[in-house]
Amino acid sequence: MKARAIAHPNIALVKYWGKRSDALNLPAVGSISITLDTLATDTRVHFDPGLEGDEFVLNGVSHAEQGRRVSRFLDLFRARAGVECRARIRSSNNFPTGAGLASSAAGFAALARAVDAALNLNMDRETLSIMARRGSGSAGRSLFGGFAEQRRGQFDDRDDDAGCHSLRAAEDWPLEVVVAITETAQKKTGSTQGMSRSADSSPYFGAWINAQPDDLELARTAIATQDFDRLAEVAEFSCLKMHGLAMGSRPPLLYWNVATVDCIHAVRAMRDDGWKVFFTVDAGPQVKVICAPGWCSRVAERLAGIAGVTDTRCCGLGRGAYVVV
Ligand code: PMV
Repeated sequence: MKARAIAHPNIALVKYWGKRSDALNLPAVGSISITLDTLATDTRVHFDPGLEGDEFVLNGVSHAEQGRRVSRFLDLFRARAGVECRARIRSSNNFPTGAGLASSAAGFAALARAVDAALNLNMDRETLSIMARRGSGSAGRSLFGGFAEQRRGQFDDRDDDAGCHSLRAAEDWPLEVVVAITETAQKKTGSTQGMSRSADSSPYFGAWINAQPDDLELARTAIATQDFDRLAEVAEFSCLKMHGLAMGSRPPLLYWNVATVDCIHAVRAMRDDGWKVFFTVDAGPQVKVICAPGWCSRVAERLAGIAGVTDTRCCGLGRGAYVVV
């Protein structure tokens, strides 16, 4: 009834923004991501018959609100396993939490992996990705290493077709990523709230949904053919469209700060100089710069010199969530 698992954050290259069912946490669009190495969530789960309720400790601090979200997530697994037992969960991140670095994706992927092992459910990776997606819409992708796709699915009342799959192994195309940290505080508007605001009020929401299949296809082809320039083009397009959608919401969502914009300009200037780089930004002010193999350290050095960049982290592509024995 005990297990430990590690998962890495993933960074979307074709973004997920918008839900079509809150109850099942179903995405309005499919998405494509890369899973990182180095940054990690390490989670231990212990189902203990002596506990009256679930206990959730994140980075050494017990969280009531997040604990309730985790408890509801555990209920999905308890129902499958036919057990009532409560659990003690200790989780830690080696990177800022809730600041646009996909901590919830890594968190729910690690939790799904650990709970599956602790309850001896032996679900396959795709089924686990469906479970993880219920906790956080982007978490299913962290079950897979390298390049992964989250499928949109077709049904509104079931989610068995809304899982993830691998597009390409990390070793096949070992891209590098520099994360430029421009702020470590928790973001003010979480992605769930942001997405629902965009769906309700952004005039661009319908166009965003309609164009997603084309962006996904472009990215799949670029990944299959290892075409860095094409991947760069569609990833920056998807990122800026998502933020355009967010900025066009009421009230507007502006996740960027000054350093975010300076990093974006710096990456565009690097590319004009022939560097193999592109940027992406999620629901927070950090900038993730994807580099062709071998470019990471010089890109990190350039970004570290930008005012407001407090830290840079270099990552490679990593593996999907795994159990530690
Ligand atoms: O998994 P969530 O609900 O935190 O949503 C993630 C949304 C983005 O990170 C902005 C985009 C994505 O596809 O990961």
